[in-house]
Amino acid sequence: NPDLSNLFKKKKKIMSSFKKVLATQGPCNAPKPGMLDFVNKAKWDAWKSLGSISQDEARQKYCDLIGSLVEAETGSSPQVSAQPAGSGATYETLLVTKEDDITTIKLNRPAKKNAITTEMYNEIIAALEQAATDDSVITVVTGAGDFYCSGNDLTNFTKIPENGVEEMARRGADLLRKYVNAYIDFPKPLVAVVNGPAVGVSVTVLGLFDLVYATERATFHTPFSQLGQSAEGCSSYTFPKLMGAAKASEMLLFNKKLTAVQACELGLVTEVFPDSSFQSEVWTRLKAYAKLPRNSLALSKQLIRSVEKERLHAVNDAEVERLMERWTSDECFNAVMSFFQAKAKL
Ligand code: COA
Repeated sequence: NPDLSNLFKKKKKIMSSFKKVLATQGPCNAPKPGMLDFVNKAKWDAWKSLGSISQDEARQKYCDLIGSLVEAETGSSPQVSAQPAGSGATYETLLVTKEDDITTIKLNRPAKKNAITTEMYNEIIAALEQAATDDSVITVVTGAGDFYCSGNDLTNFTKIPENGVEEMARRGADLLRKYVNAYIDFPKPLVAVVNGPAVGVSVTVLGLFDLVYATERATFHTPFSQLGQSAEGCSSYTFPKLMGAAKASEMLLFNKKLTAVQACELGLVTEVFPDSSFQSEVWTRLKAYAKLPRNSLALSKQLIRSVEKERLHAVNDAEVERLMERWTSDECFNAVMSFFQAKAKL
């Protein structure tokens, strides 16, 4: 029944907005609207029904509600599991394959533009550890579908554990530190095949890759201040080093989105290819590179990295420390909630 479903949607909309109001403004003490003021009366009832729970509880309830709405609207997205050649590991969020001496880690949540969930962070860390010790010569990271990656999955912020947002931030920080360390310490040539737009942490860690090939359709966007957050992936060090302080600030402070050509001019991208020939040109080249002597490649890569490995770890630690504070801030909370509000068209 379309009428009923509209009514349900409206009720959901009103309840949700008021949980948000409660989360930011506290319990209802506004005067009750008149009986004939149907809309405001419904809003007031919803607000009042939430009683005098604390703002923290209201936040949690609001997050739960958003989480359940997201789940109800999207269902759990089916993922293709991959059986990597030569190893027993399977992944829910990645396709990991080994062919022609190249291990390819493909981010595989195309319906969500390959946004990185907690599970996916853990799987990428595991896949990098596996690739580090397998007999491949080169490791490639790429994305399934039209996006490379849309960065941190913002639903990670709605899963608040029992002991509160501080605990969520602490766990997030531990995971991010480990994730970025996996790139810093990766012992073989690591190549990003950027098959489409890239956002957030998928852009910042590019400074830790040895080669970055991009389709002309790719864009590079790090909207940290827009989200009340701060730089990660060692980008506070690698970006100014690669592109100069002013250009790095445009990206890291002021959310400037770069085209692939601009990112290449600034040194973040190695080479840009036409979209129509991107896959064939890149893979032809990588297959040829993978025939080079494996030890020579790995040892040279390690030499280059060793010069600043210690510094990169220190930068990672400092960035994670700052982010842990950001993730408990109102600025971040409000920005993330705005994303879901826009999405649920509340
Ligand atoms: N976290 C959670 N969900 C995300 C996501 C993210 N980072 N990026 C995309 N998605 C989801 C969208 O909510 C949408 O879900 P739905 O189909 O259930 O509605 C789905 O992926 C497809 O994205 P959509 O927004 O419809 O595609 P688009 O082409 O219009 O826009 C983006 C793509 C990436 C520009 C947009 O989704 C976006 O801005 N995402 C947030 C990116 C971000 O801020 N990342 C963190 C950086 S620090």
